[in-house]
Order: sequence, then C-alpha cells, then structure tokens
Amino acid sequence: MRKNIVAGNWKMNTTVPEGVQLAKEVCEAVSSAQGLKCDVIVGVPFTHLTAVRQVIDINKVGLAAQNCADHTSGAYTGEVSAAMVASTGANYVILGHSERRGYYNETPEMLKEKVDMALANGLKVIFCCGESLEERENGSFKEVIGGEIRDSLFHLTAEQMANIVIAYEPIWAIGTGKTATSDQAQEIHALIRGLLADKYGAQVADDTTILYGGSCKPSNAPELFAKPDIDGGLIGGASLKAADFMGIVTAF
Ligand code: 13P
Repeated sequence: MRKNIVAGNWKMNTTVPEGVQLAKEVCEAVSSAQGLKCDVIVGVPFTHLTAVRQVIDINKVGLAAQNCADHTSGAYTGEVSAAMVASTGANYVILGHSERRGYYNETPEMLKEKVDMALANGLKVIFCCGESLEERENGSFKEVIGGEIRDSLFHLTAEQMANIVIAYEPIWAIGTGKTATSDQAQEIHALIRGLLADKYGAQVADDTTILYGGSCKPSNAPELFAKPDIDGGLIGGASLKAADFMGIVTAF
C-alpha cells in the first residue's frame, strides 16, 4: 500500500534560527496530533539540515534537502553532494523542481545523475514534474510530463522505484494562487500512474506515492486529497507557517 505524504518545500526562505523554530513547531504539532493519515516531511535549505535534524524526531517528521549535486565529490565549488546531504541525517531530497529546471538549467540528463547519486546514498527522492502554462494551452502537457518522468526515472529498476515519490507541479499553479482543479490534477496523476504501470507493472504503479503541488492550502487540500490518485501534497508558501501546514497535513 502506498503512503500518503505531505511535504513542505521551504524554498529559499527562513534563516537558520527561524527554520529551527518552524521545524520544532511542525514536529510538536505532528507529535500531538491524533490519528494522522499521512507522513510529514520538511524540505529545508542545505544550511538548515544539521540544525533542523537535531530538533525533530525523524520518525515523526522526515527531512529533505531541496537539491543535490550530479557528481560524487571533488572540484565543484558551491555544490553539495548526496553523501553530504545523507550525512546530516536527512532522509529525502527534492529533485527536478521546475525552479531548478527553469532558473538553473537542470536537464533531464543531469537529473538522472542526481537521482542515481541520491539513491546510492540511501536518500529517497521526491521527483518533480509539471508543465508550463504555454504547454498546458498548446496541448503538449501530457507529452512533456511523460518525457520528464521517462528521461530521468525510467532507467531505474522496480526495486529502486520504491524509493521514488513523484510530485506533479503545474508551473502555472506554483506561487500564483491558481490551483489546478482537483479534476485536472487527478487526470495527470492517473496518467503518471498509467506510465508507471506500463513500464513497471501494476504493483509498482499502485505503490508509488504521487503528490500534487501548486498553491495547495488548507482550504483546497481536502478536495485534492479526496481524489483516488492524489496521495498528498508538496507545499511551498503554506509550509512556512506551522498552522497552515498542519491544516494541510490534517486534510486527509
Ligand atoms: P506553492 O505552494 O507556493 O504554490 O509552491 C508549490 C511548490 O513549488 C512546492 O514545491
């Protein structure tokens, strides 16, 4: 059975003390909540990983980096390797976010390397995909999303796929206040699950958690999460306040 997950992606927000405080609040709220029906993860800046790891119970709140390098080690000034991320005690890494693809020119080939580095170091991957507004409007969006998944994930074995979570994030819905309708999201989630079934079989497809991201908030999360193929959310803006984030965590 696949897990429901609500993961925060803090992006480039909070100082270390602010992040530690936010992580503490999330962990306390998760610890005292009764009967939660999802796993909870916080995706924090690299600088925060070690400090946040010390104030959370990793069995209650997972810890994700927002990127890792596509090389093992060496002369790559400013880069952070998957081994370094794992050594902080983090257990997840977010890869392929549209902001990294768009602003930092991350290609499917680079992402394939990053996925391999993450898995080789025992990290689970939250792999993001999603179309631009132009691609939605010109009708190429299904091909775009399929290509992103095929090009960076389909070299993996079925066993490795157990460590992959997929996040569908339509770029036009990120930070815009414009959420995909629950039917639009469900259509793409079912499409992604179908691609997984064709490649890996029904069991892997059924077991893979597929998250929705893009202006998800406490008010729209219940309708999104009620859809059969939407297994939770990857949350940007609304993950920066513990109360808002918990409003989504408790939406199942
Ligand atoms: P928002 O929730 O701020 O729209 O961001 C979504 C996102 O990009 C999560 O990775």
